[in-house]
Amino acid sequence: MSVLAVDDLTVRHGGLVALDGVTLAVETGQIVGLIGPNGAGKTTFIDALTGFTAPHRGKVTFAGRDITRDAPHERSRAGLVRTFQSLELFDDLSVRDNLLVAAHTPTFWSTIADAFWPRSHDGTDTHRTLELLDLLPVADRLPTELSNGTRHVVALARALVSSPQLVLLDEPAAGLDPGETAALADLLRRLPAVGTTVLVVDHDMSLIMNVCDQVHVLDFGRLVAGGTPTEVRNDPTVIAAYLGTSTTAGPAAEEGSA
Ligand SMILES: Nc1ncnc2c1ncn2[C@@H]1O[C@H](COP(=O)(O)OP(=O)(O)OP(=O)(O)O)[C@@H](O)[C@H]1O
Ligand SMILES: [Mg+2]
Repeated sequence: MSVLAVDDLTVRHGGLVALDGVTLAVETGQIVGLIGPNGAGKTTFIDALTGFTAPHRGKVTFAGRDITRDAPHERSRAGLVRTFQSLELFDDLSVRDNLLVAAHTPTFWSTIADAFWPRSHDGTDTHRTLELLDLLPVADRLPTELSNGTRHVVALARALVSSPQLVLLDEPAAGLDPGETAALADLLRRLPAVGTTVLVVDHDMSLIMNVCDQVHVLDFGRLVAGGTPTEVRNDPTVIAAYLGTSTTAGPAAEEGSA
C-alpha cells in the first residue's frame, strides 16, 4: 500500500525544467531515499510535494487523496510534513518549546473549540517525541547550546511532533560527522514503527545506503534509476550521473554535504 503516489510531476523555474515527469510511489512503512547531484531537483521535489512550489504538470496522491492543489498547511495537517536544508530552529526557545510551537498550530475552528471546551495542552505528543529521539536530557536547553548533531535531531523532532504519516527530510545529515550520522541513522530506523514513513534526501551515502529500503536517483530533474541500495550502488547509470558532474561525489563515496 502506497502512502504517496507521484505521477508525471513536472516543475519549471522560468525556462529551466527542474523536475521532468517524475513518477514514483512510496510504500507505507518504508524508508525511501532520494539522491542525485547538486541541482538535480531534490529540494524542488520536496517543495512540490509539500505545496511550496506549484507543479507545471502532474499529480500527487497522499493517503489515497489527490493533494496536488492543496495549500502547504492543508498538507501538513493531513500528515505530510517536511524539514528544511537550513534547520530553521528557534534559537531563543528551549528544545521543548521548539516542539510545542510545532505541535499546536491553532486553526479558526480549534480556537473556537478551545474557547468553549478548553483543552489542556499538556505536551503529551512533545514528551513522546522527545523520548523517541532521545532528547529528554536536553529538553530544557537552547538549540545554540547543543552540538550540531543534536540540533539536527531537534529539527527532525519538530517535524515528527504531529505524528505525520510521511516525513520528507532535506539533507538531515548535512554537516554531520560520521558518528553523528550513524546516530541519526539509528533514530530514523525507529520511525516506521511509530507510524511514520520516511523520504530522505541526502548526499551522505553511508546514511542512504544504511537506512533505506528503496533509493531513487534524480539527475537533471529526471529519475534515472531506482531500486534497493545494492541495486542502485551498482547501477552504471547512477555512477555516470555522479561522475558526470563531480569527481568527488560518487554513490560509493561518502560525501560530506555543504
Ligand atoms: N526558485 C528557483 N528559481 C529558479 N531556479 C531554481 C529555483 N529553485 C531551484 N532552482 C533551480 O532548479 C534546479 C534544481 O534545484 P534544487 O534546489 O531542487 O536541487 P537539489 O537537488 O536540491 O540540489 P542540492 O543538492 O544542491 O540541494 C537547479 O538548477 C536550481 O538552480
Ligand atoms: Mg537541495
